[in-house]
Amino acid sequence: MTDPVEQFISAIRDSIDDQTFQKLTLGKFQNELASVQHVYVRIVDLKTGPHLSFVYRYPNQDVTKNSPIPEGINIITGWLGSTCRSATLLTSKGRQQLLFGRRGQPRLFTQDSPSIPGTSRAHDREKTRLLRDERALELLGVIDSEGRPRAQMGDKYRQVHHFIEALAPILKGASQGETLHIVDMGCGKGYLTFALHQFLRENGKNPVTTGVEKRDSLVESANAIAGQLGDNNIRFIQGEINDVEIKPIDILIALHACDTATDDAIYQGIQEECRWIVVSPCCQHELRPQLTAPAGFEPLFRHGIQVDRMTEIVTDALRCLYLEAWGYQTRIQEFVGTEHTAKNLLVVASRTRKPGPSEDLVERALEFQHRFGIQNQRLQTLLTAEISPQRHRGHGERI
Ligand SMILES: C[S@@+](CC[C@H](N)C(=O)[O-])C[C@H]1O[C@@H](n2cnc3c(N)ncnc32)[C@H](O)[C@@H]1O
Repeated sequence: MTDPVEQFISAIRDSIDDQTFQKLTLGKFQNELASVQHVYVRIVDLKTGPHLSFVYRYPNQDVTKNSPIPEGINIITGWLGSTCRSATLLTSKGRQQLLFGRRGQPRLFTQDSPSIPGTSRAHDREKTRLLRDERALELLGVIDSEGRPRAQMGDKYRQVHHFIEALAPILKGASQGETLHIVDMGCGKGYLTFALHQFLRENGKNPVTTGVEKRDSLVESANAIAGQLGDNNIRFIQGEINDVEIKPIDILIALHACDTATDDAIYQGIQEECRWIVVSPCCQHELRPQLTAPAGFEPLFRHGIQVDRMTEIVTDALRCLYLEAWGYQTRIQEFVGTEHTAKNLLVVASRTRKPGPSEDLVERALEFQHRFGIQNQRLQTLLTAEISPQRHRGHGERI
């Protein structure tokens, strides 16, 4: 096959078939589409099956139209060389660019896939499989229109994908077509909110997602992006984590919500009997002034940096113990390498029974806490306030 247009169309079909397709960008429009700057084509999973989603970028707005894949390929074929004179296909294998000269002669250029610094091509492919539609990441400024991470956004891009990879196994526990209510507490710009929402959509679930954020400007910009995506099932609200009332919640996430905001989020998750609570703690300062070495462990607490690290470890250990005491199974895992951020742990809690205190496990948690001289830990304070006042005791006291 020598015709570059046929070769290009064939490459589009192949990449869709072998799931390496990432994105198609069409440009240099004329005739009836002269006012369109670009058309971006991606694969989206709709209830009726996979479609090609065409985003027409006009100077002042984006218009999205979805077509079943064969019909979409026919539209593209009809445009190439007449209405559209530039097309770039990005796949995880590489990039192909089809350009038309002044007299309409087509030329095809092939390039290797751009890799993200610090990641391998194989790794990129893995990520592509897990999150196919990255339009939200583009609108959030994480990647450019070619799907490459923008300057300074490589770490965020990796973090988003590692987060999805970390969650993918547990989310297999949800049924196909199931409506899942997601809440992201302290969602910031919504990078992970949009990514998790999209991942669930691509995997046959019906996510209804709410991002909670105290900063107005971030809520506004995230809602604007949801509007551009035309997705009515994701929204962002302004509020304090310990103040908002959202019901029901199936999956609660809180990544890098500072210090005790993580405890407030976990507490809400337990209150709402969430199936999964996933937090990535940061700035665990609360226990720093209280922490003392248990007898015999003083060498681990000799230097300031040791106490800082121990504060983080003990805080997260306590969160796990209280989650377990209230009916969750917990796991702590890394979700992105320490070379990218020190805030790289995920606490993943899966509900194993109806949430509520188990006396033995509460006692175990309190004993552990008291061995480190800790009077109060935010999650413990919130949870134990609801049970017998005797539970809410200070250092060294027994239940
Ligand atoms: C470090 S950012 C992380 C954002 C996002 N979760 C992520 O990982 O990309 C923490 C965000 O949580 C918000 N935040 C912190 N405490 C909060 C609270 N109590 N209520 C609501 N938002 C809070 C901050 O405004 C900030 O945008």
